[in-house]
Amino acid sequence: MTHPATRPRRTRQSDAWRRMVRETRLSPDALIYPLFAVPGRGVRHPVSSMPGVSQLSVDELVKDAKAVAATGVPAVLLFAAPAQKDARASAALDPKGLAAQALAAIKEACPSLLVWADVCLCGATDHGHCGHVLPGGAIDNDSSVETLAQVALNYVRAGADAVAPSDMMDGRVQAMRRLLDREGHAATPIVSYAAKYASSFYGPFREAAESAPAFGDRRSYQMDPANAREALREVLLDVEEGADLVMVKPAGPYLDVIRRVRDAVTVPVVAYQVSGEYSLIKAAAERGWINEQAAVLETLTGIQRAGADLIITYYAPEVARWLAGR
Ligand code: PBG
Repeated sequence: MTHPATRPRRTRQSDAWRRMVRETRLSPDALIYPLFAVPGRGVRHPVSSMPGVSQLSVDELVKDAKAVAATGVPAVLLFAAPAQKDARASAALDPKGLAAQALAAIKEACPSLLVWADVCLCGATDHGHCGHVLPGGAIDNDSSVETLAQVALNYVRAGADAVAPSDMMDGRVQAMRRLLDREGHAATPIVSYAAKYASSFYGPFREAAESAPAFGDRRSYQMDPANAREALREVLLDVEEGADLVMVKPAGPYLDVIRRVRDAVTVPVVAYQVSGEYSLIKAAAERGWINEQAAVLETLTGIQRAGADLIITYYAPEVARWLAGR
């Protein structure tokens, strides 16, 4: 049957109808909020390229974690930018290092808030790459994987509820799973940044995490933005290696990848609305060029509609408040 008998507008004519036939519903339950730890006390250092986001010392981080938990957002994702940076990523391996301190402090203050620890070497290395650098400048996969597994173990011992490897080395999920199991942490999930693209949208984040590479770029380990089939290969490998959740990152420019991944696996799919996606909306909103709340809710709805079960976003607490009508 076609028009005039068929009229899709019938179920669009009032808010009550639109609410009833809505296919995608955002909920704070699906959101994860990133936090950035820096050394010191009483430090609340705004990230200039991400209005509303600050680098926080551990004491301040605890305050924000409590505020986030109060909005109903169930999890945070922790990044650390330690002062000490060296070739071995010693600060990330240190049981008393910045990330370990922050994890312990957040868990003590908010035991029911889940804390995911981002696992990577870039914030703790002097060269800012996500793995160890060989003479000549290539990134050494297998030695990086060993270190990354040790970092994951360090963070889990400090209290992390999940580890999220964001380095894109081959085989790191398997190495982490084996080490965690051997050391008595078989119950700790791995959230794998499985399809992470070499994206220009990470620019603002690198200021927040102090993790810009000192030379070269990340294209020898992060994925080529042109590839979608390869994302399935990455995701299926990570699931086989033991990933409990898989991530697609960035989110907005990769909705097709999110959909294909959602259709290919049975584990939860996480999408990361990254710093550049956040800053674009912020910048346009500051100029009065876009309605911030409407734009944010539309992007997140699109990401969920594409197939994401969970979304990491710098807007998480604000969205939770908007959804609660506060
Ligand atoms: C580090 C890491 C990055 C992000 C998360 N973990 C940056 C990068 O790979 O250069 C990006 C997050 C964002 O842009 O919001 N491996």
